[in-house]
Order: sequence, then C-alpha cells, then structure tokens
Amino acid sequence: MQVIFKIKRQTLRQPSHEQTYTLDIEPGLTVLDALNQIKWYHDGTLAFRKNCRNTICGSCAMQINGRAALACQNSIRQELAQAIAPDTITIAPMGNMPVIRDLVVDMQGFWQNLGAVDPYVSAPARQLGEGEFLQSPRDREKLNQAGNCILCGACYSDCNAREVNPAFVGPHALAKAYRVLADSRDQARGDRLEAYNNVQSGVWGCTRCFNCNTVCPMDVAPLDRISQIKGAILETKTEDNTVAASALDRPLRHRLVLINLVKEGGWIDERKFGLRVLGNGFRDWRGLGSLIPLGARMLGRGKFPFRFHPSPARGVIRPLIEAVQSWRKGGSRVKS
Ligand code: SF4
Ligand code: SF4
Ligand code: FES
Repeated sequence: MQVIFKIKRQTLRQPSHEQTYTLDIEPGLTVLDALNQIKWYHDGTLAFRKNCRNTICGSCAMQINGRAALACQNSIRQELAQAIAPDTITIAPMGNMPVIRDLVVDMQGFWQNLGAVDPYVSAPARQLGEGEFLQSPRDREKLNQAGNCILCGACYSDCNAREVNPAFVGPHALAKAYRVLADSRDQARGDRLEAYNNVQSGVWGCTRCFNCNTVCPMDVAPLDRISQIKGAILETKTEDNTVAASALDRPLRHRLVLINLVKEGGWIDERKFGLRVLGNGFRDWRGLGSLIPLGARMLGRGKFPFRFHPSPARGVIRPLIEAVQSWRKGGSRVKS
C-alpha cells in the first residue's frame, strides 16, 4: 500500500522543516523498516538511531503520530489506525531534548538526571567479600516491573513536568529510583527518601499528567512508581516533622493535612486546610500572608465557611484510614 511519511528534519540549532516521502510498503512492516527503506533507497541523509530492531535496546524512540514510541514496536498498519490522515504517518524527534540532527536527539540531560537519583544499590550492600546477597523470589519479584525499563527516553520526551521545570529529574529517573528503593539489598533507604522528597526535582515535581504511563513501551508505569515513592515518604513523615523545610515541604504537608483532617472530621475542614498547609500551624507567616487575598475574596462573596459540620460518617471513616495506615506500616517496605 502507499503510505506518506511526514518527517520533521533539522540540524543543530537550525529551524526545522517537514519532508514528505511516499513509500509503497507492506503494512505489516514497522515504522523502523519504513525509515530504513527511506534511508537505503530514497534519501541517505536522513538521520535516526536504531540497533536491535526488537524493542530491546531503546535506541529508536521518536515521536510517531504525536506521541513518543519505539519505531520498531508498532506496525505501519497499527500506526495508520491511530493517525489523523488515513494514509499518513508523522514522525518527529523526541521532545524535551535538543535535536542534534533529524530524529537524533542529545540525551545528555536524560542520563545526567538518571545519575542524580543514585540508581545503584548502595555501596555498603555491595561489599560482600566472599559471600552472596541472597534475595527471596518474592523480594526479586518487586523489582520486575521497574526493572523492565530499557531507558528509551519516551517517557522523558512526553513529560509535561520536564517541559516546564528543568529541575525535575523525569519519570525514567524516578522509576529507577523506585527500583533501587524496593531492592532488599539497598541500605540507603532513609537518605533516598529524603532526596526524592523534593518539591522541584523529586516526586512532588510530577504533575500527574499520566503521559509517561501511556507512552512507556515496557509497561514500567513510571507514574505508579512515583506514587509508590510518595507513599513511602508519607509513611516516614508526620505533619509536625514537615516543619523544618516549611515551604519546601508543602506538597508533602498538603497530603498529610488532608489525611489528618479527613480522620478528624470525616471530610475536609476548609478553614483549617489552608492554615495548616500554607501557614504550617502559624509558623510560616509568609505562607499565612499568601492566604489573605483569597480569604478576603471569599468573605466578600459570602463564601467563607465560618462553621464546620463534621461528616456523620466520621466514626466509620477514621478506623478505615487507620487500618490502611497500619497495614502499610506493617506490610513490606514499598508495596508492589
Ligand atoms: S520508563 Fe519506559 S518510557 Fe521511560 S525510559 Fe524506561 S522504558 Fe522508556
Ligand atoms: S505523570 Fe508526572 S512524571 Fe509522568 S509524564 Fe506526567 S508529569 Fe512527567
Ligand atoms: S531498535 Fe532497539 S528498541 Fe527499536
């Protein structure tokens, strides 16, 4: 069948342009096969990365029909089924990384951010002398999903948080962070949780857009791994020990206050919510000051809740929350 490939091309620091190639091609072949045909028989100047041709090495990640994917994974037929025009596939380089040439991007930042989470089992755990560090099949099983990452960069390419916040390490790095955190051999759990508990670079930098889960070709589900790290951090903190870092701990305090208020009243007492999250129990005057314009507007419009009516079901809700909390504390370190 005839298929049109619209490929975004550019060289370093030059504006991009779109080039169109029309191929007579078997729809069962992959997009990577089509790129090879273009390069071998039509235009040898087209640049792209590839290696295994079998969804193993992660080299051929690029944007296909508007989302990051491996060129060697889906058939042309599958891609056409999700294309906007019935006979056209659009191809562009991955996002969030500078383009070197055509579909080849500079992945230096990607690797540096991976290094920033210290993605190795901690050093003392590696000093085994003559011995072995045995893991039970159950412990090993916890590493399977995150361990499937082939570091292709697809999640990083489509990450909304990376697009607006250059400090955010990215979904690939946090998925790997979880991989090490869940490893029974690692002995740096406390330090890791402190490091990942960062409002800009760590887990709280994620905007929960879900893109990483959608595009990951290996079902690593980075967002789910980020949520597991958040859960592990929440287990180690209370509302009171978020005081020290004040504004930096706000996302964490937001969740802790929310849980505590629901435990107290069955639902959220909005009068206390802002005071405890932003005001940090009257310890953060700048945070408290930031509430004044909102409070004034609410008062002006008659929407300020002077009284709080607890939920009639609070007697049921509290034991439920406490049961979940004690289950999490008593269960394995990081739930899989
Ligand atoms: S988490 Fe998935 S999308 Fe991200 S780098 Fe690993 S394999 Fe690729
Ligand atoms: S869910 Fe979070 S980490 Fe994943 S792509 Fe969106 S912002 Fe990035
Ligand atoms: S060429 Fe290796 S994953 Fe596509």
